[in-house]
Amino acid sequence: MKIESIPAPGARVYALIASKSPPLRDLCKAVAAEVTPTLTTGRVLDLGTGPGYLPIEIAARAPGLELEGIDLSPAMVKIARKNAAKKGVADRVRFQRANAADLPFEDDYFDLIISTLSFHHWSRPLDCLTEINRVLKAQHEAWIYDARRDTTNEVNAEFRSEYGRFLAFLFLKLVRAHSSVTLREIEALLASPEIIFSITNVIDRGVILKLQLVK
Ligand SMILES: C[S@@+](CC[C@H](N)C(=O)[O-])C[C@H]1O[C@@H](n2cnc3c(N)ncnc32)[C@H](O)[C@@H]1O
Repeated sequence: MKIESIPAPGARVYALIASKSPPLRDLCKAVAAEVTPTLTTGRVLDLGTGPGYLPIEIAARAPGLELEGIDLSPAMVKIARKNAAKKGVADRVRFQRANAADLPFEDDYFDLIISTLSFHHWSRPLDCLTEINRVLKAQHEAWIYDARRDTTNEVNAEFRSEYGRFLAFLFLKLVRAHSSVTLREIEALLASPEIIFSITNVIDRGVILKLQLVK
């Protein structure tokens, strides 16, 4: 069974893990570092934002950006709002409960849409991609990052040498068992006739796959 929205106790545990876990913190920092030189003004949307660490990190790096984060889980939205207030960016980072398959924003609204480690939860991924296309400005991009489980032995060994055996075991065996995608699954989805982006790319980042979608 696919769990889409993370319920309250799980949300608190996830928020704690994501704030302490080196692989999750590194992903957040790497994506923020990719966004901020590309975009210094405009609106960014984070889908399945969870505790909101990514838009909060981006807001701290780029004072000219307005950020919106949405999540299906009311508990996550509450935690994300508290985290933004704690970091003093609540005026530029707003969070609300919403489904990525039914976005509460007008057409052609965002300069960039991002998402980390949420895509594998989406029960209606094609509807989500259609909504992303609708709220994105023309010629602008969405970057969707998720963990892949079809990694090579070389990638797994590299991950182990970076994070140590214990963290690598937790991530490569336990987390990925139910929180991951394969290249084949992503390619099959992007081959669907319902996909209306002008360009779609799948970029291999070791244990992470990045979908680059251009409207
Ligand atoms: C594993 S957490 C990732 C959180 C955060 N993006 C991160 O990288 O730490 C996945 C999040 O996606 C949210 N989610 C799942 N399906 C969703 C959907 N259809 N629309 C919005 N949020 C969704 C869940 O509630 C959960 O908070």
